[in-house]
Amino acid sequence: MNIGIIVFSQSGHTLSVAEKLQERLNQLSHPVQIDAITIEGEAAQDKFQLTHQPNVSGYDALIFASPVQAFSLNPVMQAYLNGLPSLENKPTAYLVTKQLPFNWTGGNRAIKTMQSICQKKGARILGSAIVVWQDARRDDTTEKAVTLLSQLFSDH
Ligand SMILES: Cc1cc2nc3c(=O)[nH]c(=O)nc-3n(C[C@H](O)[C@H](O)[C@H](O)COP(=O)(O)O)c2cc1C
Repeated sequence: MNIGIIVFSQSGHTLSVAEKLQERLNQLSHPVQIDAITIEGEAAQDKFQLTHQPNVSGYDALIFASPVQAFSLNPVMQAYLNGLPSLENKPTAYLVTKQLPFNWTGGNRAIKTMQSICQKKGARILGSAIVVWQDARRDDTTEKAVTLLSQLFSDH
């Protein structure tokens, strides 16, 4: 299965988890491309322009990966997802990274926003994971996220 990981990452955390996930999926014999959304300006509402919007049409399945920002989905990922064409029947999974320790400080909400936008475009939702970047939880939540998300594709 040809999988695209579409990532937005400002300080590199989300990208580093995406790279670990790519490695794990490669071990399951899936070809995986990471494609990063880029902007000009600041990642705040109405203060940026998308300068690279990854094209999703060539992938059999998609993983969207984004940081949490202000207890919500990062506005860059939100703008990108809103601009996508139909995702009819496309299998999709979702990853967010965040600093604060609890999933209710923006993690659950960010996942829900991504899933809701993609579901309206016809996507099939396979699952999601949240990585907490705080030192004490980083390794454990990263390992759990990579394992969970890669297993979603293990029987495809
Ligand atoms: C402006 C701003 C707002 C943030 N808001 C939250 C938040 O509400 N909850 C949280 O857990 N982390 C928050 N964070 C932390 C980021 O989500 C976290 O560092 C994330 O891993 C960054 O990912 P990146 O390096 O891929 O950009 C915020 C970071 C920034 C810069």
